[in-house]
Amino acid sequence: MNNVARHVIRAAVFAAALGAAAAHAASIKISCVAVGQELEFCKATAEAWAKKTGNEVQVVTPPNDASERLALYQQVLSAGSDKIDVLQVDVIWPGLLGNHLLDLKPYTKGVEKDHFEGFIANNTNNGRLVAMPWFTNAGLLFYRKDLLQKHGQTVPVTWEDLSASAKKIQDAERAAGNDKMWGYVWQGRAYEGLTCDALEWVASYGGGSIVEPDGKVSIRNANAAKALQMAASWVGTISPTAVLNYAEEEARGVFQAGNAVYMRNWPYAWSLAQSDDSVIRGKVGVAVLPKGGADGRHAATLGGESLAVSKYSKHPAAAADLVMHMTSAAVQKDRALRGSFNPTIGALYQDPEILKANPFMGELYGTFTNAIARPTTVTGPRYNQVSNQFWNAAHEVLSGRSRPNDALMRLEGALNRLSRGGKWQ
Ligand code: GLC
Repeated sequence: MNNVARHVIRAAVFAAALGAAAAHAASIKISCVAVGQELEFCKATAEAWAKKTGNEVQVVTPPNDASERLALYQQVLSAGSDKIDVLQVDVIWPGLLGNHLLDLKPYTKGVEKDHFEGFIANNTNNGRLVAMPWFTNAGLLFYRKDLLQKHGQTVPVTWEDLSASAKKIQDAERAAGNDKMWGYVWQGRAYEGLTCDALEWVASYGGGSIVEPDGKVSIRNANAAKALQMAASWVGTISPTAVLNYAEEEARGVFQAGNAVYMRNWPYAWSLAQSDDSVIRGKVGVAVLPKGGADGRHAATLGGESLAVSKYSKHPAAAADLVMHMTSAAVQKDRALRGSFNPTIGALYQDPEILKANPFMGELYGTFTNAIARPTTVTGPRYNQVSNQFWNAAHEVLSGRSRPNDALMRLEGALNRLSRGGKWQ
Protein backbone atom coordinates (compact mmCIF):
# COMPACT_ATOMS: atom_id res chain seq x y z
CA MET A 1 0.00 0.00 0.00
CA ASN A 2 1.45 3.38 -0.90
CA ASN A 3 1.40 6.41 1.35
CA VAL A 4 -1.53 8.06 -0.38
CA ALA A 5 -3.71 4.95 -0.01
CA ARG A 6 -2.73 4.65 3.65
CA HIS A 7 -3.64 8.28 4.17
CA VAL A 8 -7.00 7.84 2.45
CA ILE A 9 -7.83 4.81 4.58
CA ARG A 10 -6.82 6.57 7.77
CA ALA A 11 -8.94 9.59 6.88
CA ALA A 12 -11.90 7.35 6.13
CA VAL A 13 -11.56 5.52 9.44
CA PHE A 14 -11.32 8.83 11.26
CA ALA A 15 -14.41 10.19 9.49
CA ALA A 16 -16.38 7.04 10.34
CA ALA A 17 -15.36 7.32 13.97
CA LEU A 18 -16.43 10.95 14.04
CA GLY A 19 -19.72 10.03 12.41
CA ALA A 20 -20.38 7.34 15.01
CA ALA A 21 -19.58 9.75 17.80
CA ALA A 22 -21.80 12.40 16.30
CA ALA A 23 -24.66 9.93 16.00
CA HIS A 24 -24.46 9.19 19.72
CA ALA A 25 -23.34 12.55 21.01
CA ALA A 26 -25.83 14.12 23.33
CA SER A 27 -26.07 17.51 24.91
CA ILE A 28 -26.86 16.99 28.59
CA LYS A 29 -28.24 19.76 30.73
CA ILE A 30 -27.16 19.31 34.33
CA SER A 31 -28.33 21.38 37.26
CA CYS A 32 -25.44 22.16 39.63
CA VAL A 33 -26.03 24.06 42.87
CA ALA A 34 -23.65 26.94 43.62
CA VAL A 35 -23.19 26.78 47.43
CA GLY A 36 -19.48 27.31 48.25
CA GLN A 37 -17.35 25.50 45.68
CA GLU A 38 -20.14 23.24 44.45
CA LEU A 39 -20.67 24.83 41.05
CA GLU A 40 -16.98 24.92 40.16
CA PHE A 41 -16.54 21.24 41.07
CA CYS A 42 -19.74 20.07 39.40
CA LYS A 43 -18.97 21.91 36.17
CA ALA A 44 -15.38 20.65 35.94
CA THR A 45 -16.38 17.01 36.47
CA ALA A 46 -19.27 17.17 34.01
CA GLU A 47 -17.03 18.77 31.40
CA ALA A 48 -14.34 16.15 31.90
CA TRP A 49 -16.96 13.45 31.30
CA ALA A 50 -18.16 15.25 28.16
CA LYS A 51 -14.64 15.41 26.78
CA LYS A 52 -14.00 11.74 27.49
CA THR A 53 -17.26 10.51 25.99
CA GLY A 54 -17.62 12.95 23.08
CA ASN A 55 -20.83 14.41 24.51
CA GLU A 56 -21.63 17.95 25.51
CA VAL A 57 -22.79 19.36 28.82
CA GLN A 58 -24.64 22.54 29.64
CA VAL A 59 -24.66 23.59 33.27
CA VAL A 60 -27.74 25.28 34.64
CA THR A 61 -27.72 26.77 38.13
CA PRO A 62 -30.87 26.56 40.22
CA PRO A 63 -31.32 28.77 43.31
CA ASN A 64 -29.03 27.91 46.25
CA ASP A 65 -31.99 27.95 48.65
CA ALA A 66 -33.19 24.33 48.81
CA SER A 67 -36.85 25.35 49.09
CA GLU A 68 -36.65 27.55 45.99
CA ARG A 69 -34.79 24.80 44.13
CA LEU A 70 -37.56 22.33 44.91
CA ALA A 71 -40.21 24.75 43.60
CA LEU A 72 -38.26 25.12 40.35
CA TYR A 73 -37.83 21.35 39.90
CA GLN A 74 -41.51 20.74 40.60
CA GLN A 75 -42.44 23.28 37.98
CA VAL A 76 -40.08 21.86 35.33
CA LEU A 77 -40.93 18.22 36.04
CA SER A 78 -44.68 18.58 36.35
CA ALA A 79 -44.67 20.25 32.93
CA GLY A 80 -42.89 17.14 31.56
CA SER A 81 -40.16 19.45 30.29
CA ASP A 82 -36.73 18.22 29.17
CA LYS A 83 -35.12 21.51 30.24
CA ILE A 84 -32.98 19.62 32.78
CA ASP A 85 -31.62 16.10 32.15
CA VAL A 86 -29.62 15.60 35.35
CA LEU A 87 -30.84 17.04 38.64
CA GLN A 88 -29.03 17.54 41.92
CA VAL A 89 -31.63 16.37 44.43
CA ASP A 90 -31.73 16.86 48.18
CA VAL A 91 -31.90 13.78 50.43
CA ILE A 92 -35.46 14.77 51.37
CA TRP A 93 -36.84 14.75 47.81
CA PRO A 94 -36.78 11.23 46.32
CA GLY A 95 -40.26 10.66 47.77
CA LEU A 96 -41.58 13.95 46.42
CA LEU A 97 -40.03 13.81 42.95
CA GLY A 98 -39.54 10.07 42.44
CA ASN A 99 -42.38 9.64 39.92
CA HIS A 100 -40.62 12.04 37.57
CA LEU A 101 -37.21 10.39 37.85
CA LEU A 102 -35.70 7.55 35.84
CA ASP A 103 -34.96 4.17 37.42
CA LEU A 104 -31.14 4.04 37.39
CA LYS A 105 -30.85 0.33 38.22
CA PRO A 106 -30.22 -0.69 34.59
CA TYR A 107 -27.18 1.63 34.51
CA THR A 108 -25.45 1.05 37.85
CA LYS A 109 -23.74 -2.32 37.22
CA GLY A 110 -24.40 -3.00 40.91
CA VAL A 111 -22.20 -0.24 42.36
CA GLU A 112 -25.04 0.92 44.61
CA LYS A 113 -24.00 -1.84 47.02
CA ASP A 114 -20.84 0.20 47.81
CA HIS A 115 -22.88 3.18 49.02
CA PHE A 116 -24.45 3.63 52.48
CA GLU A 117 -27.39 1.29 52.63
CA GLY A 118 -29.66 3.86 54.28
CA PHE A 119 -28.99 6.38 51.53
CA ILE A 120 -29.82 3.82 48.83
CA ALA A 121 -33.02 2.89 50.70
CA ASN A 122 -33.86 6.60 50.92
CA ASN A 123 -33.40 6.94 47.15
CA THR A 124 -35.48 3.86 46.33
CA ASN A 125 -39.03 4.63 45.40
CA ASN A 126 -41.43 1.73 44.85
CA GLY A 127 -38.49 -0.52 44.05
CA ARG A 128 -36.97 1.99 41.62
CA LEU A 129 -33.55 3.54 42.30
CA VAL A 130 -34.41 7.13 41.41
CA ALA A 131 -31.13 8.85 42.41
CA MET A 132 -27.49 7.98 43.05
CA PRO A 133 -26.01 9.29 46.34
CA TRP A 134 -23.37 11.98 45.74
CA PHE A 135 -22.41 13.37 49.16
CA THR A 136 -23.77 13.17 52.66
CA ASN A 137 -24.13 15.93 55.22
CA ALA A 138 -24.71 16.41 58.92
CA GLY A 139 -24.93 19.64 60.90
CA LEU A 140 -21.58 20.46 62.60
CA LEU A 141 -20.26 23.03 65.04
CA PHE A 142 -17.29 24.98 63.65
CA TYR A 143 -15.34 26.97 66.20
CA ARG A 144 -12.32 29.26 66.40
CA LYS A 145 -9.66 27.24 68.22
CA ASP A 146 -7.45 30.31 68.61
CA LEU A 147 -10.18 32.43 70.23
CA LEU A 148 -11.30 29.68 72.59
CA GLN A 149 -7.74 29.24 73.73
CA LYS A 150 -7.09 32.96 74.06
CA HIS A 151 -10.15 33.38 76.27
CA GLY A 152 -9.70 30.20 78.28
CA GLN A 153 -12.75 28.40 76.91
CA THR A 154 -13.30 24.74 76.06
CA VAL A 155 -15.53 23.39 73.31
CA PRO A 156 -19.11 23.78 74.56
CA VAL A 157 -20.93 20.59 75.54
CA THR A 158 -24.40 22.12 75.95
CA TRP A 159 -26.22 25.01 74.28
CA GLU A 160 -26.09 26.73 77.66
CA ASP A 161 -22.26 26.46 77.57
CA LEU A 162 -22.20 27.75 74.00
CA SER A 163 -24.36 30.76 74.86
CA ALA A 164 -22.12 31.75 77.77
CA SER A 165 -18.86 31.11 75.92
CA ALA A 166 -19.98 32.95 72.78
CA LYS A 167 -21.03 35.97 74.84
CA LYS A 168 -17.81 36.04 76.80
CA ILE A 169 -15.55 35.88 73.75
CA GLN A 170 -17.70 38.27 71.72
CA ASP A 171 -17.65 40.88 74.49
CA ALA A 172 -13.91 40.57 75.09
CA GLU A 173 -13.07 40.76 71.38
CA ARG A 174 -15.28 43.80 70.91
CA ALA A 175 -13.76 45.49 73.91
CA ALA A 176 -10.36 44.85 72.32
CA GLY A 177 -11.45 46.69 69.17
CA ASN A 178 -13.04 44.05 66.93
CA ASP A 179 -16.51 45.54 66.86
CA LYS A 180 -17.65 43.21 64.07
CA MET A 181 -17.27 40.09 66.19
CA TRP A 182 -20.31 37.83 66.76
CA GLY A 183 -20.64 34.81 69.01
CA TYR A 184 -22.67 32.40 66.89
CA VAL A 185 -23.89 32.30 63.28
CA TRP A 186 -26.34 29.77 61.83
CA GLN A 187 -29.26 29.42 59.39
CA GLY A 188 -32.29 31.45 60.49
CA ARG A 189 -34.02 32.28 57.21
CA ALA A 190 -37.54 30.90 56.75
CA TYR A 191 -36.57 27.95 54.48
CA GLU A 192 -35.55 24.28 54.59
CA GLY A 193 -32.22 25.14 56.23
CA LEU A 194 -34.04 26.48 59.30
CA THR A 195 -35.96 23.21 59.51
CA CYS A 196 -32.54 21.50 59.74
CA ASP A 197 -31.22 23.82 62.47
CA ALA A 198 -34.46 23.86 64.48
CA LEU A 199 -34.83 20.07 64.33
CA GLU A 200 -31.33 19.88 65.86
CA TRP A 201 -32.32 22.19 68.74
CA VAL A 202 -35.57 20.34 69.38
CA ALA A 203 -34.04 16.87 69.19
CA SER A 204 -31.09 17.92 71.37
CA TYR A 205 -33.53 18.83 74.19
CA GLY A 206 -35.38 15.53 73.78
CA GLY A 207 -38.31 17.22 72.02
CA GLY A 208 -38.73 14.55 69.31
CA SER A 209 -38.60 14.91 65.53
CA ILE A 210 -41.75 16.96 64.70
CA VAL A 211 -43.74 13.96 63.41
CA GLU A 212 -42.78 10.57 64.84
CA PRO A 213 -42.35 7.43 62.68
CA ASP A 214 -45.84 6.24 63.72
CA GLY A 215 -47.37 9.43 62.29
CA LYS A 216 -48.03 11.17 65.58
CA VAL A 217 -47.47 14.93 65.61
CA SER A 218 -45.16 15.32 68.62
CA ILE A 219 -43.89 18.88 68.27
CA ARG A 220 -46.05 20.53 70.94
CA ASN A 221 -44.05 19.66 74.04
CA ALA A 222 -42.15 21.48 76.78
CA ASN A 223 -38.72 20.40 75.53
CA ALA A 224 -39.37 21.71 72.02
CA ALA A 225 -40.56 25.00 73.54
CA LYS A 226 -37.41 25.22 75.63
CA ALA A 227 -35.25 24.60 72.56
CA LEU A 228 -36.92 27.36 70.55
CA GLN A 229 -36.73 29.72 73.50
CA MET A 230 -33.00 29.10 73.75
CA ALA A 231 -32.44 29.82 70.04
CA ALA A 232 -34.58 32.97 70.21
CA SER A 233 -32.39 34.25 73.06
CA TRP A 234 -29.38 34.30 70.71
CA VAL A 235 -30.92 36.69 68.19
CA GLY A 236 -29.58 40.17 68.76
CA THR A 237 -27.26 39.00 71.56
CA ILE A 238 -24.69 36.49 70.32
CA SER A 239 -26.13 36.32 66.77
CA PRO A 240 -26.80 39.33 64.55
CA THR A 241 -30.50 40.07 63.92
CA ALA A 242 -29.67 39.50 60.25
CA VAL A 243 -29.32 35.79 61.08
CA LEU A 244 -33.10 35.69 60.55
CA ASN A 245 -32.29 35.94 56.87
CA TYR A 246 -29.16 33.78 56.78
CA ALA A 247 -28.80 30.61 54.74
CA GLU A 248 -25.58 28.54 54.72
CA GLU A 249 -23.48 30.98 52.70
CA GLU A 250 -24.43 34.08 54.70
CA ALA A 251 -23.42 32.36 57.93
CA ARG A 252 -20.18 31.17 56.34
CA GLY A 253 -19.44 34.66 55.00
CA VAL A 254 -19.29 36.04 58.56
CA PHE A 255 -17.27 33.12 59.93
CA GLN A 256 -14.91 33.03 56.94
CA ALA A 257 -14.20 36.75 57.37
CA GLY A 258 -13.02 36.00 60.91
CA ASN A 259 -16.04 37.66 62.52
CA ALA A 260 -17.69 34.80 64.39
CA VAL A 261 -16.57 32.50 67.20
CA TYR A 262 -18.98 29.63 66.45
CA MET A 263 -20.86 28.57 63.33
CA ARG A 264 -23.38 25.82 62.54
CA ASN A 265 -22.86 24.57 59.01
CA TRP A 266 -22.38 21.51 56.77
CA PRO A 267 -18.98 19.90 56.07
CA TYR A 268 -18.32 21.88 52.86
CA ALA A 269 -17.36 24.86 55.06
CA TRP A 270 -14.20 23.05 56.24
CA SER A 271 -12.17 23.09 53.02
CA LEU A 272 -13.04 26.74 52.45
CA ALA A 273 -11.94 27.65 55.99
CA GLN A 274 -8.68 25.80 55.27
CA SER A 275 -8.05 27.24 51.81
CA ASP A 276 -4.76 29.05 51.10
CA ASP A 277 -6.27 32.52 51.07
CA SER A 278 -8.45 31.98 54.15
CA VAL A 279 -7.86 34.34 57.08
CA ILE A 280 -9.01 31.59 59.48
CA ARG A 281 -6.81 28.84 58.02
CA GLY A 282 -5.42 26.64 60.80
CA LYS A 283 -7.62 28.32 63.41
CA VAL A 284 -10.78 26.24 63.04
CA GLY A 285 -11.99 23.19 64.92
CA VAL A 286 -15.01 20.99 64.17
CA ALA A 287 -17.19 19.36 66.83
CA VAL A 288 -20.60 17.83 67.36
CA LEU A 289 -23.40 20.32 67.96
CA PRO A 290 -24.11 20.89 71.68
CA LYS A 291 -26.63 18.99 73.80
CA GLY A 292 -29.83 20.56 75.08
CA GLY A 293 -28.85 20.85 78.76
CA ALA A 294 -27.01 18.23 80.78
CA ASP A 295 -29.76 15.62 80.13
CA GLY A 296 -29.97 16.36 76.44
CA ARG A 297 -28.20 14.71 73.52
CA HIS A 298 -26.02 15.75 70.62
CA ALA A 299 -28.22 15.98 67.53
CA ALA A 300 -27.22 16.60 63.92
CA THR A 301 -29.71 16.73 61.06
CA LEU A 302 -28.99 14.39 58.18
CA GLY A 303 -28.54 16.16 54.87
CA GLY A 304 -27.04 15.21 51.58
CA GLU A 305 -27.40 15.32 47.85
CA SER A 306 -27.86 12.85 45.01
CA LEU A 307 -27.91 13.00 41.24
CA ALA A 308 -30.96 11.89 39.29
CA VAL A 309 -32.10 11.72 35.67
CA SER A 310 -35.38 13.26 34.60
CA LYS A 311 -37.85 10.83 33.02
CA TYR A 312 -38.41 13.47 30.34
CA SER A 313 -34.76 13.53 29.22
CA LYS A 314 -34.28 12.82 25.52
CA HIS A 315 -30.90 11.22 26.30
CA PRO A 316 -31.51 8.93 29.28
CA ALA A 317 -28.55 6.62 28.65
CA ALA A 318 -26.00 9.43 28.31
CA ALA A 319 -27.50 11.29 31.30
CA ALA A 320 -27.34 8.13 33.43
CA ASP A 321 -23.73 7.59 32.34
CA LEU A 322 -22.88 11.11 33.51
CA VAL A 323 -24.58 10.44 36.88
CA MET A 324 -22.64 7.20 37.33
CA HIS A 325 -19.39 8.99 36.54
CA MET A 326 -20.05 11.89 38.89
CA THR A 327 -21.03 9.67 41.82
CA SER A 328 -18.16 7.19 41.29
CA ALA A 329 -15.61 6.44 44.01
CA ALA A 330 -12.83 8.30 42.14
CA VAL A 331 -14.87 11.48 41.81
CA GLN A 332 -16.14 11.26 45.41
CA LYS A 333 -12.56 10.91 46.62
CA ASP A 334 -11.45 13.94 44.67
CA ARG A 335 -14.40 15.97 46.00
CA ALA A 336 -13.62 14.89 49.55
CA LEU A 337 -9.95 15.84 49.22
CA ARG A 338 -10.47 19.21 47.59
CA GLY A 339 -13.94 20.23 48.76
CA SER A 340 -14.56 18.31 52.03
CA PHE A 341 -17.72 16.76 50.64
CA ASN A 342 -18.49 13.64 52.66
CA PRO A 343 -18.49 10.51 50.48
CA THR A 344 -21.50 8.20 50.39
CA ILE A 345 -19.24 5.18 49.85
CA GLY A 346 -18.35 3.60 53.22
CA ALA A 347 -14.90 2.36 52.13
CA LEU A 348 -13.71 5.91 51.45
CA TYR A 349 -13.87 6.60 55.20
CA GLN A 350 -10.87 4.25 55.55
CA ASP A 351 -8.84 6.21 53.00
CA PRO A 352 -5.85 7.81 54.79
CA GLU A 353 -5.64 10.74 52.36
CA ILE A 354 -9.29 11.62 52.90
CA LEU A 355 -8.96 11.36 56.68
CA LYS A 356 -5.83 13.48 56.67
CA ALA A 357 -7.48 16.25 54.64
CA ASN A 358 -10.67 16.05 56.72
CA PRO A 359 -9.93 14.81 60.25
CA PHE A 360 -13.58 15.36 61.26
CA MET A 361 -14.72 12.69 58.78
CA GLY A 362 -13.00 10.08 60.93
CA GLU A 363 -13.36 11.68 64.39
CA LEU A 364 -17.04 12.47 63.94
CA TYR A 365 -17.92 9.41 61.86
CA GLY A 366 -20.73 8.50 64.29
CA THR A 367 -22.29 11.94 63.82
CA PHE A 368 -22.76 11.15 60.16
CA THR A 369 -24.03 7.63 60.62
CA ASN A 370 -26.39 8.54 63.51
CA ALA A 371 -27.69 11.80 62.10
CA ILE A 372 -31.39 12.52 62.53
CA ALA A 373 -33.54 12.19 59.45
CA ARG A 374 -36.23 14.72 58.80
CA PRO A 375 -39.70 13.09 58.89
CA THR A 376 -39.88 12.43 55.15
CA THR A 377 -40.68 8.73 55.26
CA VAL A 378 -43.78 9.06 57.41
CA THR A 379 -45.13 12.26 55.86
CA GLY A 380 -44.35 11.23 52.26
CA PRO A 381 -45.77 13.64 49.69
CA ARG A 382 -46.72 16.08 52.46
CA TYR A 383 -43.18 16.52 53.79
CA ASN A 384 -42.58 19.90 52.19
CA GLN A 385 -45.80 21.30 53.68
CA VAL A 386 -44.81 19.92 57.09
CA SER A 387 -41.39 21.50 56.84
CA ASN A 388 -42.85 24.78 55.65
CA GLN A 389 -45.18 24.95 58.67
CA PHE A 390 -42.31 24.03 61.00
CA TRP A 391 -39.81 26.57 59.70
CA ASN A 392 -42.46 29.31 59.80
CA ALA A 393 -43.34 28.50 63.41
CA ALA A 394 -39.64 28.51 64.34
CA HIS A 395 -39.11 31.79 62.49
CA GLU A 396 -42.01 33.43 64.34
CA VAL A 397 -40.43 32.53 67.66
CA LEU A 398 -36.92 33.60 66.62
CA SER A 399 -38.15 36.97 65.43
CA GLY A 400 -40.15 37.53 68.60
CA ARG A 401 -43.53 37.49 66.87
CA SER A 402 -44.79 34.47 68.87
CA ARG A 403 -44.08 32.80 72.15
CA PRO A 404 -42.88 29.20 71.81
CA ASN A 405 -46.02 27.68 73.38
CA ASP A 406 -48.37 29.63 71.12
CA ALA A 407 -46.38 28.89 67.97
CA LEU A 408 -46.18 25.18 68.81
CA MET A 409 -49.90 24.97 69.57
CA ARG A 410 -50.76 26.47 66.18
CA LEU A 411 -48.17 24.26 64.50
CA GLU A 412 -49.66 21.15 66.06
CA GLY A 413 -53.11 22.13 64.82
CA ALA A 414 -51.84 22.78 61.29
CA LEU A 415 -49.95 19.48 61.16
CA ASN A 416 -52.91 17.52 62.46
CA ARG A 417 -55.09 19.04 59.74
CA LEU A 418 -52.44 18.20 57.13
CA SER A 419 -52.25 14.61 58.28
CA ARG A 420 -56.00 14.18 58.44
CA GLY A 421 -55.66 12.80 61.95
CA GLY A 422 -52.43 10.82 61.63
CA LYS A 423 -53.05 9.33 58.17
CA TRP A 424 -50.24 10.96 56.24
CA GLN A 425 -50.29 9.00 53.01
C1 GLC B 1 -27.92 21.08 52.46
C2 GLC B 1 -28.31 19.64 52.75
C3 GLC B 1 -29.77 19.44 52.49
C4 GLC B 1 -30.60 20.46 53.23
C5 GLC B 1 -30.15 21.86 52.87
C6 GLC B 1 -30.88 22.89 53.70
O1 GLC B 1 -27.97 21.33 51.10
O2 GLC B 1 -27.56 18.75 51.96
O3 GLC B 1 -30.15 18.13 52.85
O4 GLC B 1 -31.97 20.30 52.97
O5 GLC B 1 -28.77 22.00 53.09
O6 GLC B 1 -30.46 24.17 53.41
